[in-house]
Amino acid sequence: MEHKKLKSFPNNFLWGSASAAYQVEGAWDLDGKGASVWDKFVRIPGKTFENTTGDTAVDHYHRYKEDVALMAEQGLTAYRFSIAWSRIFPNGSGAINQAGLQFYDNLINELIKHNIKPVVTLYHWDIPQALQDAYGGWESRKVVADFTHYAETVFKHYGDRVQYWVTLNEQNVFIGHGYKTALHPPGVADEKRMYQANHHANLANAAAISAFRALGIPGKIGPSFAYGPNYAINADPKNVLAAENAEEFGAHFWMDVYVRGEYPPLVWNWLEERGLAPETHPEDTELLKQGRPDFMGVNYYRSMTNAFNPLDGVGIQAMNTNGKKDSAKYSGEPGVYRHVCNEFLEKTNWDWDIDPTGLRIGLRRIASRYQLPVMITENGLGEYDTLTDSGEVNDDHRIAYLHDHALAIQQAITDGVDVIGYCTWSFTDLLSWLNGYQKRYGFVYIDRDEQNEKSLTRYKKKSFYWYKEVIASNGEILSKG
Ligand code: BG6
Repeated sequence: MEHKKLKSFPNNFLWGSASAAYQVEGAWDLDGKGASVWDKFVRIPGKTFENTTGDTAVDHYHRYKEDVALMAEQGLTAYRFSIAWSRIFPNGSGAINQAGLQFYDNLINELIKHNIKPVVTLYHWDIPQALQDAYGGWESRKVVADFTHYAETVFKHYGDRVQYWVTLNEQNVFIGHGYKTALHPPGVADEKRMYQANHHANLANAAAISAFRALGIPGKIGPSFAYGPNYAINADPKNVLAAENAEEFGAHFWMDVYVRGEYPPLVWNWLEERGLAPETHPEDTELLKQGRPDFMGVNYYRSMTNAFNPLDGVGIQAMNTNGKKDSAKYSGEPGVYRHVCNEFLEKTNWDWDIDPTGLRIGLRRIASRYQLPVMITENGLGEYDTLTDSGEVNDDHRIAYLHDHALAIQQAITDGVDVIGYCTWSFTDLLSWLNGYQKRYGFVYIDRDEQNEKSLTRYKKKSFYWYKEVIASNGEILSKG
């Protein structure tokens, strides 16, 4: 729909930016921190781009004050970061590491001092290696109790200062890559095990939200889901059906459980037919229903376009993790859908479609299906950036991307979607899990590359100043140019 005039962003809209512990902190084994599954996985040759690790990452652990000062200078009103579970519980459960608690105390206090609201993610993919070794991590039901205990510990400790909590970051991604494509730890390719691990993650998510409510912690809580709306390549009904399949399998399969506490019947039926349905206990549904979130967190990067895929059709294919355009091959689920090229959209050098309207469509779909407020917990452009001799980074490509997506949010708000905040990905450049350091997302350039930590000096990019103006005008400048 077209509007004669766009609504203004709400006065209390959160203008934020985001990161994740493993991608920024470094200090992977300092001050009592235990190893996470990523600390181990990156040491297996060939698993990450040029064998990059987050051992030092961008050294946020030691430079958080400098980073928060830059956030304050930009005018951020929110900063989303994750807590490394193994910094608090080096063994996943048991004794608490006080130095770990202290680090996040310091970070949260520093943010609050600068009027920046912390948005705290409990889990951004780094389950303690000790729990992986003890019982197979997400593959065991035991993880539910350990995750809930960890969540309760941080709720109690930081709940007086934190108003926004994110439970699991992109369950669909860490489960899919962990147990189907085997690209993330624990590097398993077994769908039966994947759906079981996924069920435990659903239970853990619900149990943490239920514990949050039981503790009476003031504030809002929800998961962050990686959502890109699915389109059909054309109006041929078999392709439209494929796109609906992709939406059922790629979105409803997770978000329905978060909000309604029930798996969508079409996917469940498909799983049962194939003997892939997870083992459940009678009391699970009641727990899942206690996990209704206050908001849906959405990480949006791109939409997906779909076509019919026969039973002997396309499955998992190679991703582009090297930044060489057109090196990705489109994946699919045989008999369900296959992703295809959308000729209307430009792509990044990592072959991700650029589609601001897809964000508006996705927000509207979530609002219509779930009637929940949405927080955009990630959105951004991963691209090459060049630091000039005079210390500048002219990232006009990122400004264009963020401008168009932020405007799409304003359009969605005008359509009637309740959007409470926008966290760009990311504040500083950081480690991209499989793509090294050359795929940059930040407003702040970090002087380091794959093999050389260099100076780790921070440089404000052109987009830093652009977002500063967006925030200062509460988004008013977006529709003016
Ligand atoms: C999301 C994750 O999948 O997208 C982030 O939550 C990640 O941690 C981001 O970095 C961008 O993905 P990538 O693969 O380009 O780093």
